[in-house]
Amino acid sequence: MRYFKQALKISALGLLLATGQALAHGNVTPQSVDTKDLEKLGDEWLETNPYRDHPQHDLAVKIGASAYNQNCAACHGLEAISGGMTPDLRELEVGEFGDEWYKERVVNGAVRDGRVYMPRMGDVLSQEALWAIRTWLETVAVEQ
Ligand code: HEC
Repeated sequence: MRYFKQALKISALGLLLATGQALAHGNVTPQSVDTKDLEKLGDEWLETNPYRDHPQHDLAVKIGASAYNQNCAACHGLEAISGGMTPDLRELEVGEFGDEWYKERVVNGAVRDGRVYMPRMGDVLSQEALWAIRTWLETVAVEQ
């Protein structure tokens, strides 16, 4: 019993440290996302999600789910269920208005007073990968 409690304490501490670090420095190592089978989108950022009404919608969902787990879940939570430290991305508005805000955040990140709350994900992930993530997010979206 004692050993068990000790182990619990240690793992809780580990978790705390890990989240703390990610939040403090935005220090998340980006994982590459294989988007070669998705339609290429070019260098200019689009304003709306091109994969929403697209023949490759389902492929985008699949790629987006795994890209999310590797690049966003550490901060925004597994299955996009936030633990409360970061916005819950299931609550992003579905459709064009949500797209606009999504794009703004993933391209620019969130930096205030020199602190990186969220890194500029657009610098490390392709536009294809980021719209695929948005496509997946819409499949788990909840009404506010
Ligand atoms: C290092 C932690 C971290 C990582 C990694 C991260 N985010 Fe964030 N994200 C945040 C924080 C913190 C905020 C709130 C920013 C603020 O306070 O303005 C945020 C805000 C957002 C918002 C705006 C949500 C809203 O309701 O305003 C979107 C969209 C978003 N993140 C998408 C993503 C996506 C997609 C990824 C992965 C590609 C990602 N984030 C990776 C920490 C992170």
